[in-house]
Amino acid sequence: MNPAPLSGQTAAVFGGSSGIGLATAEAARALGAEVTIASRTEARLREAAARIGEAETAALDIRDAEAVRRFFDQRDPFNHVVVSAAELGVGPLRKRSLAEERAAFDSKFWGAVNVAHAARIRPEGSLTLVSGMIGVRPTGGATVLSAINAAIDALSKALATEMAPVRVNCVSPGRIETPWWDFLPAAERQALFDRTASGLPLKRIGRPEEIAAQIVHLMQNGFMTGAVVLVDGGGSVA
Ligand SMILES: NC(=O)c1ccc[n+]([C@@H]2O[C@H](COP(=O)([O-])OP(=O)(O)OC[C@H]3O[C@@H](n4cnc5c(N)ncnc54)[C@H](OP(=O)(O)O)[C@@H]3O)[C@@H](O)[C@H]2O)c1
Repeated sequence: MNPAPLSGQTAAVFGGSSGIGLATAEAARALGAEVTIASRTEARLREAAARIGEAETAALDIRDAEAVRRFFDQRDPFNHVVVSAAELGVGPLRKRSLAEERAAFDSKFWGAVNVAHAARIRPEGSLTLVSGMIGVRPTGGATVLSAINAAIDALSKALATEMAPVRVNCVSPGRIETPWWDFLPAAERQALFDRTASGLPLKRIGRPEEIAAQIVHLMQNGFMTGAVVLVDGGGSVA
């Protein structure tokens, strides 16, 4: 029998306790990787590790550059690192405070930069960032988040040239059903999902497993770097 494609390899997933990050950690583990998940809340990490089956956990805040550096300094270099951690509010710029918008940038953009700055990744390995489709198809309903996603797309391309032979790629999801949306009451959330789905060629929103499938593909394809892969149900061309 052939060994699992990621067996003998390690993967660190920032934001691995929920949504896209958790699905990625599960997919990498299923392909044989030894997985470490990092996020802020111990209880969520423990629950996620139980669901993955076997995973090391690390409680840290990705906004804390020193904590991120310690995380890497205390471990052997990883084969693969994924950044899916972010805590974001969303809305039109003029309806949100500047403090909220700066906090969003701190979490999603500077969090990714903190990881890129400190990560120790094996030469044949990969770093994968997660942006969002509204980076290429901006919307006034999420003005600064559109800009954050575009910044992450550009960051990943620049890092691909800087960090080679480590491969750096980015996955840009459309709307995905994850716990991130739990801030909306259930009926409102479902109405939003239904509205989004009706405007998409595929007439449905995405599942975290579908983003994870692309991320683990990027881990394995040794000729991919500098790519921004849209996984958006056709949202960017609808
Ligand atoms: N869901 C969508 O529709 C969608 C669409 C496009 C792009 N995206 C992007 O995909 C990424 C993941 O989203 P998701 O929907 O999977 O979100 P999620 O289910 O809310 O998961 C976010 C994860 O990040 C962790 N996290 C948040 N802030 C952190 C911090 N400061 N330090 C460390 N960990 C932190 C969370 O755990 P703790 O809170 O315990 O730290 C959790 O594990 C985000 O960048 C999001 O913008 C999502």
